[in-house]
Amino acid sequence: MTIEEMKDRLRPGLKHKRFVHSVNVMETAILLARKYGVDEEKAAVAGLLHDCARDIKGEQVFKLCDEMGIETDYITRAQPELLHGPIGARLAETEYGISDAGILDAIRYHTTGCERMSMLSKIVFIADYIEPGRTFPAVFEARKVVYNDIDKAILMSLEKTVRFVMDKGTLVHPNTINARNYIIYERRNKAK
Ligand SMILES: [Fe+2]
Ligand SMILES: [Fe+2]
Repeated sequence: MTIEEMKDRLRPGLKHKRFVHSVNVMETAILLARKYGVDEEKAAVAGLLHDCARDIKGEQVFKLCDEMGIETDYITRAQPELLHGPIGARLAETEYGISDAGILDAIRYHTTGCERMSMLSKIVFIADYIEPGRTFPAVFEARKVVYNDIDKAILMSLEKTVRFVMDKGTLVHPNTINARNYIIYERRNKAK
């Protein structure tokens, strides 16, 4: 399927605002892929499709998880929006014919992050945060550093997310903590 065909398939399943966001993430992911030596086509596909399951709501989320064999736990049951990554990865496979494990992982983990993220996963994660439609203040800071130090930009966004979730009193997903810890660990090893 070409990118244009994917866009045509994606559009009806998303709110207009979300579709525009998806195209923005795709474009930002391409720029970052160019900078960080990642396959631009893979970055484009992962960026475009990352939120393909974002507008599936309510009981349908858990029904799909059952059908797809996606495990849920008390955290994702309390905050079902966390499941749009794993569901999106499966839809990318079945509805869009994507078989590349790196693209599927980038979609699967784009919301929480995870330990040992690949550069492609990092690109989609941070493109989601900094695409041009995002206007919250922390984004301007992340945009300044992302082309020099993508890990720093990701750390800033993960830490912001953890603080935000804690302030709200909701649950922090362990993958978010693992993503942060692993990037700090990697950076320490690189600095040695
Ligand atoms: Fe998302
Ligand atoms: Fe997104």
